[in-house]
Amino acid sequence: PNRGLVKKKNKDFVQKMRDQDKNVVLFYGSQTGTAEDYASRLAKEGAQRFGLRTMTVDVEDCDMELLDKFPEDCMAFFMMATYGEGEPTDDAVEFWELLNSECPEFSQGGAPESKPLSNLRYVVFALGNKTYEHFNAVGRYVDKRLEELGAHRVYRKGEGDDDGSLEEDFLGWKEDMWKAVCEAMNVDLNAVQPGTRIPTYSIEELDVYDKAKVFYGEINEKAFTSNGMQNPYPSPIQRTRELFNATDRNCVHMELDITGSGITYQSGDHVAVWPMNSEQDVYRLLKVLGLWEKRDKIVKVTNTDSSASKEHPFPVPTTYATIFRNYLDIHAPVSRQFIATLANYIPSQEGRAKLTTLGEDKEAYKRQVTDAHLTLGELLESVAQNGKTLEEVPLDLIIETLPRLQCRYYSISSTPKVSPNSIHITATVLSYKPIAAPTKTVYGLATNYLLQVHRKLENIKHPESAPYYLYSGPREKFYDKETNTIKLALHVRHTNFKLPRNLETPVIMVGPGTGVAPFRGFVLERAKFKSEGESVGDTVLFYGCRKENEDFLYKDELRQVFARLGDSGKLFTAFSREQEHKVYVQHRIAENAEYIWRLLYDRGGFFYVCGDAKNMAHDVNGALIRIAQQYGNMDETRATAYVKDLRNQGKYQEDVWS
Ligand code: 2AM
Repeated sequence: PNRGLVKKKNKDFVQKMRDQDKNVVLFYGSQTGTAEDYASRLAKEGAQRFGLRTMTVDVEDCDMELLDKFPEDCMAFFMMATYGEGEPTDDAVEFWELLNSECPEFSQGGAPESKPLSNLRYVVFALGNKTYEHFNAVGRYVDKRLEELGAHRVYRKGEGDDDGSLEEDFLGWKEDMWKAVCEAMNVDLNAVQPGTRIPTYSIEELDVYDKAKVFYGEINEKAFTSNGMQNPYPSPIQRTRELFNATDRNCVHMELDITGSGITYQSGDHVAVWPMNSEQDVYRLLKVLGLWEKRDKIVKVTNTDSSASKEHPFPVPTTYATIFRNYLDIHAPVSRQFIATLANYIPSQEGRAKLTTLGEDKEAYKRQVTDAHLTLGELLESVAQNGKTLEEVPLDLIIETLPRLQCRYYSISSTPKVSPNSIHITATVLSYKPIAAPTKTVYGLATNYLLQVHRKLENIKHPESAPYYLYSGPREKFYDKETNTIKLALHVRHTNFKLPRNLETPVIMVGPGTGVAPFRGFVLERAKFKSEGESVGDTVLFYGCRKENEDFLYKDELRQVFARLGDSGKLFTAFSREQEHKVYVQHRIAENAEYIWRLLYDRGGFFYVCGDAKNMAHDVNGALIRIAQQYGNMDETRATAYVKDLRNQGKYQEDVWS
């Protein structure tokens, strides 16, 4: 058989629509699964409320050249996430390139004048983050380009801001969107009956199963066969330690062994870590749903729609406890729409009224749920009467609605030039007391997981660890009882955040707080080459933290490495809380304006920023513009253009997060 042909055939979504009798396709381009979740939600809603025959597909799994064959009486949704600096998500790269080309693949050579997509009716929902300059660039372009190619926009594009309230943006957009879509699809809204819920998943308890094939948190089916590309590698932890000298804040350094895994990395890459939910969260939710007693029962969860792109929502068979511990994000605040739906399943009138109000009243929702970081377990507990269980809430509804537990990305803080067989992580542990609920401590899911792993390995007893008791159970792949070795599921994501090829090119790095992570790798790498006798250009780091003796990450190590770099190495520090007024990295940058200008302008240096996107990266950009004005003799407009140009040339690189 010709494998190429087979693959091509599977990607024929038009054929698939016909075979399965679908009239609405929801294409998604998704990096972490959010766009995919929203696509599934719309697909479900469209099917249940309006009787549309929907299907969701990853654009990656489709021959998008076939868009010009899209059936005229059907409709397409494009749920497109934007990633980083206005880039498409990995799965949407091909589609992106197609739209950015002259589209010769479309009939009539694809010239826009010939309107090759005049058969296509569509709606776009763009997902992105306003902190980034190119907000929703992908969704916006798809929307514009489809129209240019002759397609018909049925309703204005929706735009979700992950930094504000993606969920509210979505809810605010979709009602009128549905009206327009129903009109286009000839759905008579007056005739629509509110249908009974069709469960997306069936849940079956198994008495007979292969013990060796039960999933306890493995990320996909390949876990038992090979280490495929998308299959996280269970990496033994070599060493962990805490980097802060403070009792109330923690930062964990972790060294992960990748010997023999086939994983390779470069300094500046990201490592994805798959966390687990805390046992406290798991217990609370299982308990209130009446599932605690049978938490270890083996279950199989299957999509009731046999044509769905995924047969199972996560690897099965598994256990009730594992579903909550490893596969669902039970830690995030519950969404407003979900609360409104849940109200229907609460037996007490009082509880029902409470959830209905929260589901309708945006203000109350924000105060009591978002700001107070109210989890599903806490919400349900608050409406369960005297500790009774809420068995009325269907588990399949929870599985359908809660987002999947996602991996978290960290900037790798090591370099393969020094540590080819290990990957280092530097993670500041997040915990805070919300102003809206000051008696409660909110623990960041993944960073606290890492902290607990560290405490467990080091045998550290800590009062705060109690609610965070780490489950190890029968997860042989992730925990070796005999050696007390915990393994962390990880994979590497390659980035463009890279040192210049030429060692002599100067580099200026700005990385306050955890932003120092990739620069530890960079500096170690440059120092290694220097010690081997290479000629290494100026290596400059601007580092900032609160106090020198409290949260200066890698203080001794960095000072030693800079000593090894000799005259070409310079470490500038800004301790923000050691004096009355704040001193930040951008102040140190301004103090060294001329030196920076010489490195950048005269010697073609590279400039790197890592850390907080919102304030720091923005302020640093501003500081550089002022330097260009001051020493480059430019007015503000020209200086701004100059800095922008540095970015376009890849000489100003950012690895920032919000
Ligand atoms: P602060 O918390 O005392 O305000 C690492 O988090 C360091 O970055 C801290 O010293 C922190 O100072 C500082 N920081 C906070 N906001 C900043 C900003 N806008 N620009 C640069 N550094 C900032």
